[in-house]
Amino acid sequence: MAIFLDTGKIAEVEKAMRMGVIRGVTTNPTILLKCGVTGGKAMIKKTSVEIARLIRPYPLSVEVTTNDRAAMIAQAREYAQWAENINVKITVHGPQGELENFEVAHELETKHDIRVNMTAMMSAQQCLLGALAGATYVSLFGGRVNNMGYNCVEEIMKARRVLDAQGLKAKIIVGSTREILNVIEWLGAGAHIVTVVPEFIAGMIVHPYSKETVQMFLADARKAEESLKT
Ligand code: E4P
Repeated sequence: MAIFLDTGKIAEVEKAMRMGVIRGVTTNPTILLKCGVTGGKAMIKKTSVEIARLIRPYPLSVEVTTNDRAAMIAQAREYAQWAENINVKITVHGPQGELENFEVAHELETKHDIRVNMTAMMSAQQCLLGALAGATYVSLFGGRVNNMGYNCVEEIMKARRVLDAQGLKAKIIVGSTREILNVIEWLGAGAHIVTVVPEFIAGMIVHPYSKETVQMFLADARKAEESLKT
């Protein structure tokens, strides 16, 4: 069970690595845009290379920015050369349901020895097919599933059961976290990995009663020191 960080911010990656709590980083074009990574391929490369260096040997997922079959393969091959711990995100299908994405993922894994993270998945059946195609990771978007009125915990459980039963190597990443509770709940349901935005790290750690307890310890330590002086 592991936590990945969903970010394109170098400082956030450094901080989480110093804390020792993450085992990988995931990005997508929307995350990079929100994190101010604009300026095209050059900036994606600069940011990805830096993050990959900071988290090595843990993996960094970088998503292709096209849905053209040949261009996806060319981009994936280029990304994979930036650092050995970079894996490539390919969406489960194209914007109109195009199925070439599966061919691309299968080809990258089997012919080019590139680790693929098949992403934007909303169901266990998509995870199963991604795993059968050879993807190293299948990314289920838990919060989006819940937003559609389905319970993503059911999908996580079904996906994990079927992957284990078939002996498939793919790891289930559940992303799109919306509440702190999602992390433990989704890991408990069978996710191998849950990916979170940086704010979730503090949200998982800081507890009002822990704060009160720490304040009590420090206040009493001060009192004990003062009583020694008198
Ligand atoms: C993870 O890999 C995903 O890209 C991410 O968690 C998606 O989250 P969102 O639904 O908040 O866009």
